[in-house]
Amino acid sequence: MAGSGPAGGVLVVGSINRDVTVFARRLPGPGETLIGDRVVYGLGGKGANQAVAVARSGIPVRLLGSVGNDDNGRLLRELLVGYGVDVTLLQTTDDLPSGTAHITVETAGENAIIVVPGANATTAPRLIGRFAADLTAASVIVLQSEIPANSVLTALDLLQDASCGVVLNLAPVVELPNSALGRADVLVVNATEAGQVLGAPAPRDIREAKAAASALARVARAAVVTLGPIGAVITERGGETIHAAAPVPQHVTDTTGAGDALVGVLAAGLARGAGVVDAARAAVDAATMTVVSAGATPSYPVFAPATA
Ligand SMILES: Nc1ncnc2c1ncn2[C@@H]1O[C@H](COP(=O)(O)OP(=O)(O)O)[C@@H](O)[C@H]1O
Ligand SMILES: [Mg+2]
Repeated sequence: MAGSGPAGGVLVVGSINRDVTVFARRLPGPGETLIGDRVVYGLGGKGANQAVAVARSGIPVRLLGSVGNDDNGRLLRELLVGYGVDVTLLQTTDDLPSGTAHITVETAGENAIIVVPGANATTAPRLIGRFAADLTAASVIVLQSEIPANSVLTALDLLQDASCGVVLNLAPVVELPNSALGRADVLVVNATEAGQVLGAPAPRDIREAKAAASALARVARAAVVTLGPIGAVITERGGETIHAAAPVPQHVTDTTGAGDALVGVLAAGLARGAGVVDAARAAVDAATMTVVSAGATPSYPVFAPATA
C-alpha cells in the first residue's frame, strides 16, 4: 500500500467517550430496576478505543476529536496520554459536555449500550478541514462514524489524492456516496452493519459473510466482515476471500470494544507494511484477547506486532 511505513504513523479521526459499564445478571426490561454486580469506568468511544489499540501495538498514533470543557474531558485527555496516544489534535469545546456511553453487560458477555455523543458532534467538517495537512501526512488514517457523517465524508474527500492507507470502520452505518467509500483501502463492518450497507439481511455464517465481503470489496479496495466468536472474513478486490477464525477465549467477560481493537490492530499492521490479510488475521486474534476482561480500552493488553 502506498504511504505505508511507520514514519507518518496512524491518525485516528473519531469519537471519545466516558464509558460507564455496569455488570448485571441480565439486561433490564422496560420499567425494570435491577441490582448490578459492579461498575467499571473507562475511556471509550470508537475513535479513542481504536487509537489506544494502535498505541498498544507499538505504532505512533494521534487522535483528532473533541471532548467537553468538563471533568470527564480532562480525565479522558489524561487517560489517552497515559495510553501513549498523541492528543495534540484533540479539541476541547465549551459548547457541549464530553460524550458518554452507558453500557450494561450481562453475565453471558452480551451488552446493551446508549451513547450520548455530546462534544463529539463538534468534530465537524470545518475541524477536519483545519487539519488537512496532518491527515495527508499520516501513513494510515482510521475513520468511523460516531462523529457527524459529513465529517467522515470531508476526510475521505481530502484524502482522495493522498497516498495514505485509509481504514474505514462504518460503525454505525451512515450513508456515504460510493465515490467516498471507494477511497477506503479497507472497509471494516460487523455482520449487522454489513447487512445494513448492502440493504440485505445480516450474514449469519461464513459463507454468507464471504458473499457480503465480496460485494463490499466491489466498492472499497478490501473488506473485513467481523463475525463475533466466529472471527472475520477478509477479501481484497480481485483476490480470494478468506476466513480468519477467532481463537477460543478462556471465558467471555465483556465484548465491548472488541471490534475497535480489531480495527486499531489492523491499522497498526498496515502502518508497519503488512498486507491486508496478514494485518487482519493478527487483528482478529488481538480482538479476541480483549473479550476475557471488562471494559473497552481497560481490556486491551499490549498487542504483539503484526509482522510485515
Ligand atoms: N464472543 C467472542 N469470542 C471470541 N472472539 C470474539 C467474541 N466477540 C468478539 N470477538 C472478537 O472481536 C471481533 C469483533 O467482534 P464483533 O462482535 O464481530 O464486532 P462488534 O465489536 O462490532 O460487536 C471478532 O472478529 C473476534 O475476533
Ligand atoms: Mg460483538
